[in-house]
Amino acid sequence: MNQVKVGIVGSRFAADFHCDSYSRNDRVKIAAVAAIDNLEEISTKWNIPKTYENYREMMDKEDIDLVSVCVPNFLHHDVVLAAAEAKKHVVCEKPLATTSAEAEEMVNTCADAGVKLFYAEDWGFAPALNRALEIINQGGIGEVLYVKAREVHCGSHSPFAKKKDTCGGGALIHLAIHPIGFMLYMLGGADNPVVEVTAKTTGGLDRNYVHKDFEGEDWAVGLMKFADGKRALAEGNYITVGGMDDCVEIYGSHGRMNIDLTFGSPIRCYSRQGIDYAIEKTDFTHGWTKPAVDEFESLGYVRELRYFVDCVINDQQPKPGVDGAAGLACIKVVEAMYQSAKEGKSVVVET
Ligand SMILES: NC(=O)c1ccc[n+]([C@@H]2O[C@H](COP(=O)([O-])OP(=O)(O)OC[C@H]3O[C@@H](n4cnc5c(N)ncnc54)[C@H](O)[C@@H]3O)[C@@H](O)[C@H]2O)c1
Repeated sequence: MNQVKVGIVGSRFAADFHCDSYSRNDRVKIAAVAAIDNLEEISTKWNIPKTYENYREMMDKEDIDLVSVCVPNFLHHDVVLAAAEAKKHVVCEKPLATTSAEAEEMVNTCADAGVKLFYAEDWGFAPALNRALEIINQGGIGEVLYVKAREVHCGSHSPFAKKKDTCGGGALIHLAIHPIGFMLYMLGGADNPVVEVTAKTTGGLDRNYVHKDFEGEDWAVGLMKFADGKRALAEGNYITVGGMDDCVEIYGSHGRMNIDLTFGSPIRCYSRQGIDYAIEKTDFTHGWTKPAVDEFESLGYVRELRYFVDCVINDQQPKPGVDGAAGLACIKVVEAMYQSAKEGKSVVVET
């Protein structure tokens, strides 16, 4: 196989960066898109020949190899199962599902159907984080002892993120899932699972700091303890103004590293009237900004989708950290964190 034909499900924010990333890959043809709105805009922008209002119809009618799932979290389960039934490989956006039971069913169904399930945790492909892992692997900071990381911004653009039944929760499942996924990839694995979590959240609605209309929490922190004693602290919040702030701090026995995924641009710009765009979730762009050079590249989307396409072409399973099992492990940790926050005590994680 020299070319992978892709069908996108979804037509807005995530669908757009999937289309952008696929368009940079000359071994991909975006054959069709299915969504309940915005079809004309997205198909025109990315030159997609076919549009569908029903994703099952797209999967039945189109000769596609790979489906990209870019719909609200609660729909991931149904769309992935439909893709497996139609014998299409499938890239699923984060979080893999809103419950571990659904995530487990997705992993098992894809395995039974013989299709590959790719978990789209882009931090696993962010160039800065990959370089940090190289430095760790060469012993550059000694043994990693503790990691602290966050994805935080001022609130999701998407209405489904405000509701628990469509999102699965608040900033923990929707944002902190990125640092959790990366930390499991970096510190965890089958032989070093998370054994205990301790979490706090604002709890949603009136208890939130800012977003009283969000059913899920607008602030969450979760501490993970791994079997080997290493610890990692993940934060997700919607109370951060001034742009999306994704940072990782890694503490080693002989050194440390700070990685800035979103404000790390080499450009410092001062503009009196403002510019077209600086970084994700900024309110305005006048005065001093740090305009991203290529946000989709630095956040990992471009390399992630290139890697998944290569897996399809070369008939390879995805590496640990970005396979269905990794997505399921993240959801199990998130569920334990919600339980910990609710009960006000640490929770032992079943592995
Ligand atoms: N990896 C990342 O950094 C990242 C960033 C943003 C979003 N996401 C994930 O991508 C997914 C989509 O988020 P978004 O921000 O694009 O949401 P959005 O609200 O911008 O878009 C939702 C899309 O879902 C489509 N949709 C809704 N119901 C549908 C149905 N029944 N059939 C087909 N299409 C349907 C809509 O047409 C719309 O295009 C979410 O799971 C989110 O967590 C990931």
